[in-house]
Amino acid sequence: MALESTSPPTIAPALSILVSGASGLVGQALCEKLQSRGHRVRRLSRSERGDVQWDVAAGQLDTAALVGVDVVVHLAGESVVQRWSSAAKERILRSRVASAHLLVDAILEQAQRPAFISASGISYYGADLDDWVDESSPMGDGFLAEVVREWEAAASALTDAGVRTAFLRTGIVLSRQGGALAKMLPAFKCGVGGRIGDGQQRMSWISLPDLVDAYVFAVESRSVRGVINAVAPEPVTNSEFTEKLGKVLGRPTILPVPAVVVKMLFGQMGEETVLSNLRVRPQRLTELGFEWQQPKLEHALRAAFDAAQS
Ligand SMILES: NC(=O)c1ccc[n+]([C@@H]2O[C@H](COP(=O)([O-])OP(=O)(O)OC[C@H]3O[C@@H](n4cnc5c(N)ncnc54)[C@H](OP(=O)(O)O)[C@@H]3O)[C@@H](O)[C@H]2O)c1
Repeated sequence: MALESTSPPTIAPALSILVSGASGLVGQALCEKLQSRGHRVRRLSRSERGDVQWDVAAGQLDTAALVGVDVVVHLAGESVVQRWSSAAKERILRSRVASAHLLVDAILEQAQRPAFISASGISYYGADLDDWVDESSPMGDGFLAEVVREWEAAASALTDAGVRTAFLRTGIVLSRQGGALAKMLPAFKCGVGGRIGDGQQRMSWISLPDLVDAYVFAVESRSVRGVINAVAPEPVTNSEFTEKLGKVLGRPTILPVPAVVVKMLFGQMGEETVLSNLRVRPQRLTELGFEWQQPKLEHALRAAFDAAQS
């Protein structure tokens, strides 16, 4: 199935889609793309920015928001990029799991139950593995692995009830507008970017347009269910990533950041994110015939900067 950004509106019937976390990096891009394909989108938010409001902390969601909805896409979740105090860890976990439970309960109340497509993370596999992993690999160690386990498990009542569920275990999303790349940019632009630690840790990444296409694929295609690794087919080492980013920006990348500094500044969060070493294979997307627009890192980086300028 070709999923070009220029693809015409879908020939599939228009769907009604409720998207949580629609105001975020992935959500904004996804909602635009879904609407451009002729679907009706309702944005679920904690604020007035949404078409429908919910209060995750208070456990409040008006189940009427799901009437007539064909697919629920669950993207909401507190950013993991912060110091992991015990309060922050609780927010990171609850914002994903408690919110998923609210949506799952609301779906179960509907006469026509919508499919449930949820964000998830490759951190499920752990934070330091040299071998390739795919969707059949076991859960690894770490706080984020546990978050992912609970996040996905929150929807088990739906799977048990025969509702279509899919979990997009997402790698590092490349976008100039947000996420890891946006955080690295100031240093790289000033010419003080460099590899992190020994640079040998593998980074499993995906461009934002490809991730959006993977969500569209999951929304529109009933054959997509279960765990899906949402990554590009070619992970790179941090050294390769650094070299390519420097090349695309035309800046030197000679100042490495020692691992000890990352651990000092960011603690466990640094170990489980920027220092993590994961080589993830997108087995299911490949089997399903998904076509990446940007399977190569340099192309993806160039496209990210071109898109931001247009
Ligand atoms: N970006 C990545 O590299 C990456 C990688 C792996 C997995 N993911 C996952 O993919 C999903 C979307 O990512 P993203 O980059 O678009 O995230 P994002 O930009 O941080 O947006 C997430 C949205 O979640 C809502 N939210 C934030 N804190 C919340 C809280 N405490 N309780 C309830 N809702 C909260 C916000 O929407 P409102 O303010 O409108 O409610 C926010 O716009 C996330 O669950 C993320 O963990 C992302």
